[in-house]
Amino acid sequence: MKFFIDSANMPSIQKFMDMGIVDGVTTNPSLLSKEGADPAEQAAKIAKLVPGPVNIEVVASDYEGMINEGRKIAEIGSNVVVKIPMTKDGMHAVRELANRGIKTNVTLIFSAQQALIAAKAGAAYVSPFIGRLDDIGEDGMVLIRDIVKIFDNYSMESQVLAASIRHPVHVLECAKAGADVATLPPDVLEKMFMHPLTDAGIKKFLDDWDALRKKLGGNISPFKR
Ligand code: E4P
Repeated sequence: MKFFIDSANMPSIQKFMDMGIVDGVTTNPSLLSKEGADPAEQAAKIAKLVPGPVNIEVVASDYEGMINEGRKIAEIGSNVVVKIPMTKDGMHAVRELANRGIKTNVTLIFSAQQALIAAKAGAAYVSPFIGRLDDIGEDGMVLIRDIVKIFDNYSMESQVLAASIRHPVHVLECAKAGADVATLPPDVLEKMFMHPLTDAGIKKFLDDWDALRKKLGGNISPFKR
């Protein structure tokens, strides 16, 4: 499963890039707004930093507007994917952008039927939002499993990009379900590193090392000949 970072924050993206665990980035108007910088410039910086797909969303809601914005967004870099909301105008724009060789990600997917439509329109990615479904008392993971199964049944080319992820169990369940991509908020990714037994294990090893140092009476250099 690929990991995208769901953030427009350069230091957060850079930190995980340095570890080699970032396959791409998703942004949305709220995430770009949080950074407070010019959105086009911020998007360009991210697209330069990350070689994988960088998803930037249109803010227009009509077909013409989405096409115009989509073309400009695609010019930011060859790795940029245009995010389009799941509307009728949106699907018209997805088809037209696909005809022009521009990759799209259909966002704000809340049903398997919507995912099917987006895939048929030619979306490279479909983004079902797990957390927002959980928030209204539904089970977002059921949606991921349904879409993975349906796309598999018909060998559909669109990739399932699990979005609105709120905690590490969501990530685990997405991986088990076979989602192609999970887009992770930095705080969720941080939590995935943690396990109390790892911390306890490191402490015990270092305490034992210290006991040896004291026994030998002084400084010991690890593995020095
Ligand atoms: C995905 O592309 C979206 O940016 C994101 O996952 C939305 O998540 P939220 O529901 O936490 O805002």
